[in-house]
Amino acid sequence: MGSQVKDKSLAAEGLALIDWASREMPVLLGIRRRFRSEKPLNGIRIGGCLHITSETANLAITLMEGGAEVYLCASNPLSTNDAVAAALAYEIGIETYAIKGEDNDTYYSHIRSVLSARPNVTIDDGADLVTTAHRLENGTYGIIGGTEETTTGVIRLKSLAAQGKLKYPIIAVNEAMTKHFFDNRYGTGQSTLDGIIRSTNILLAGKTFVVCGYGWCGKGVAMRARGMGAKVVVTEVDPVRALEAAMDGYIVSSLKEAAAVGDIFVTVTGNINVIDREHFEVMKDGAVLANSGHFNAEININALNQMAKSVNRVRNGIDEYVLEDGRRILLLTEGRLVNLSAADGHPAAVMDMSFANQALCVEYIVKNSSALQPEVYEVPPELDQQVALLKLKSMGITIDTLTEEQKRYLSSWEVGT
Ligand code: NAI
Repeated sequence: MGSQVKDKSLAAEGLALIDWASREMPVLLGIRRRFRSEKPLNGIRIGGCLHITSETANLAITLMEGGAEVYLCASNPLSTNDAVAAALAYEIGIETYAIKGEDNDTYYSHIRSVLSARPNVTIDDGADLVTTAHRLENGTYGIIGGTEETTTGVIRLKSLAAQGKLKYPIIAVNEAMTKHFFDNRYGTGQSTLDGIIRSTNILLAGKTFVVCGYGWCGKGVAMRARGMGAKVVVTEVDPVRALEAAMDGYIVSSLKEAAAVGDIFVTVTGNINVIDREHFEVMKDGAVLANSGHFNAEININALNQMAKSVNRVRNGIDEYVLEDGRRILLLTEGRLVNLSAADGHPAAVMDMSFANQALCVEYIVKNSSALQPEVYEVPPELDQQVALLKLKSMGITIDTLTEEQKRYLSSWEVGT
């Protein structure tokens, strides 16, 4: 079975994009150099279900240089960069199954193509690969472990593990501090704004910008929207996070209240039907809706369709829903991850850390598979520390280290008499 990508002739363009991203990925490149000489992944087949971007290509090349055979498919039907996919397939020699805009059936047939290569290790972003492997007869045969990139995937896999249904160990890369502190916050923050601006060219200054969910991603989106001059309103269901948003200086309200005043809405909750019929009912004419959470389920698009008397594509990636009373609601990129479907996704400098964790965790699985159970594991803290130190070094930052006296002081506290 060969690769399935949109257009082979885009390969040279894709290669240039991959090279461009690599310039901002010094930590991953350092790991690549070590992998090239040590070959820790010799004989290992890796199946990756990831956004097919220039950063992912750099991870795949690193794994290949470590001795692995790599197979890739998309983790979202709209997030593929077709030029990168072509380069992976025809310049780099990695079997790749990904076409931007592929329908649901093709999306899953691509996942099955990767599984038919019988991977030993899976790298997932959202857990579609792992769940498909679990659904197929003998689908997990030969898999010694896997990694998971995102919050939503970790939630799904922990639920599978709690039911005793997870068949092989998974390392939750998302839980590494050097992943979610930076990728989810600064990566999603910047690239979500980038996606909204690129697709609408809307002026953010003076607009009311509603962020649904004040988790790691929501904090980044809110911070960057405020930086562009928007009045930011945060909605939450978790009282602690709502309080945090209030003390960070944002307006916090229920979504019902925010719906009536917002100009732009972004969901980043990992939940379903967060923006729903009751909210569409009170929105202003021209309200813009975007999602940056993993699935396109955060905005209830079915309800919007039912309420609309017509739906028109008014600009590339923008659907205008005209309601019975004439109000227009604008939905960006069909409610799919706006940062990847309308922009280039996270900047390479944050993916450097996320994917350094991925590469190190794959190596860890290969070295330690016999000791791992079918559970969801945290990233070993020493790997997290290693990634942080390497990133600091690449940024030319030196930090202090504890003196022996300070170590003793911090570790030998006694109650006394
Ligand atoms: P998180 O767990 O840190 O935050 C989610 C927040 O949403 C929580 O504070 C939760 O209380 C809140 N929430 C849940 N239901 C809500 C509702 N109905 N209304 C308002 N708030 C609600 O998760 P994180 O890391 O911020 O991830 C959020 C989503 O973004 C996940 O689906 C994750 O997979 C995805 N993600 C997307 C990225 C991208 O490139 N666009 C990158 C990283 C993560």
